[in-house]
Formats: sequence, structure tokens, C-alpha cells
Amino acid sequence: MGERIEDVLAHYDELLREERAHRDDPAVQRDRHTDRDRRLLAVGPHTGRLINVLARSLDAPHILELGTSYGYSTIWLGEAARAAGGRVTTMEMQDYKSRYARDMAARAGLDSHIDFQVGDAVEMIDELTDPIDFVLLDLWKDLYMPCLKAFYPKLAPGAIVVADNMLRPGGENVQRYGQAVRAKAGIDSVLLPVGSGLEVSRLASA
Ligand SMILES: C[S@@+](CC[C@H](N)C(=O)[O-])C[C@H]1O[C@@H](n2cnc3c(N)ncnc32)[C@H](O)[C@@H]1O
Repeated sequence: MGERIEDVLAHYDELLREERAHRDDPAVQRDRHTDRDRRLLAVGPHTGRLINVLARSLDAPHILELGTSYGYSTIWLGEAARAAGGRVTTMEMQDYKSRYARDMAARAGLDSHIDFQVGDAVEMIDELTDPIDFVLLDLWKDLYMPCLKAFYPKLAPGAIVVADNMLRPGGENVQRYGQAVRAKAGIDSVLLPVGSGLEVSRLASA
């Protein structure tokens, strides 16, 4: 993986440990929703490693990340892109989060493999012209369905889609997504108890 990437992941791990240490504080619980833009909300190390392994298995993949946040999962995907000769397009609504993510990717030596886009992902997906080989779906949960509608027609044969938070926090929005993705033509899908719960789906090869 390389020392620069290990150092950056260690930095995020430290931030994640702090976030988790305060997770059960009553004040943190009270402000959970209003405070969410200050938190990493990162997928965590098990999911990070899994998406890295899956994306690396593809040939020169175009990887789409929906929900950059502060860039933790972007590092795992950027490393996979570099290893497999591909590239990442990552989308985030908040410009300050995207800037932080870009700085961390530069520290890791991965920024030249990643296109950081700022704005509404649902709209920006429509602008993508190249086929998509891998998707990490990890933005606000009410957007899973509109995102699926937007990216499904752009998936390349054999594309893999990973959706986070299927079990934690779970809820109606992700359940609806799980049912919808399984109903799509040519999709095989499985729910994995990794991290916060991942729906891993694959479009049939041509
Ligand atoms: C759960 S966090 C992503 C965590 C990140 N994947 C990681 O593991 O480090 C979800 C992110 O989606 C972003 N987001 C919410 N709505 C969005 C939208 N319409 N377009 C782009 N990003 C959005 C939020 O600002 C937030 O940073």
C-alpha cells in the first residue's frame, strides 16, 4: 500500500477513534443530526479494505464514489484505482469537505488518480459520459433511490455497486434501495454484515 497511504489512514483512524469515544455523550446524541457535517461518517477499516479489494479486481476501472465526506473511503478507492490502472470520480455536496479530502489524497500521493467534484451528486451523475465500473453509494440515505436511477443506465457490464449503512442505521430508505437494486435486470446482490452493512451488487458481464 505504501508508507504515505498508511500514514494518512492512521491519521483518519485517530480521528475515527476520537469520534467513537464521544459517540455516546448525551450532547453528541442530542446534536446528532445538526452536527453530522462535522463528523467523518466514514465507512471504517473493514469496509475500506473490502471496497479496495473489489475495485482492485477490475481492469482499469472507472470508480464512482457518491459521498466523499472528508475522504476516508476515497483513499481506499484511490489506492485501488492506482493499483488497477483506473481512476476515481468522487462527489460531495460540501466544498470544505471535498477540499479536506483532496488535501489528504495529495498527502497520500493519490490525488492525480481522483477527480473531486462538488455539488449535488444526483445532478452530477447525469453529466458523466464514461461507463462506470464500480460505485460506492454512501451519501444521505434518501438519495440512494434517485442515485440508483441515475447511475444504473451508465453501469458497464460486470460493474460492482456497494451501498453502505444497509444495517446501521438501516431504515426504510435503504430497505427500498435493497429491494430496487435486486429487481434490476442483470443484477446479483448480497447483503454482507461488514462494517455498517453492505449491499454488494454486480451487473452481469456482457
Ligand atoms: C456518510 S458520508 C460519506 C462518508 C465517506 N464515504 C467515507 O467513508 O469517508 C455522506 C456524505 O454525503 C454528502 N452528501 C449528502 N447529500 C449529497 C448530495 N446530494 N450530493 C453529494 N454529496 C452529498 C454529505 O455531505 C456527506 O459528507
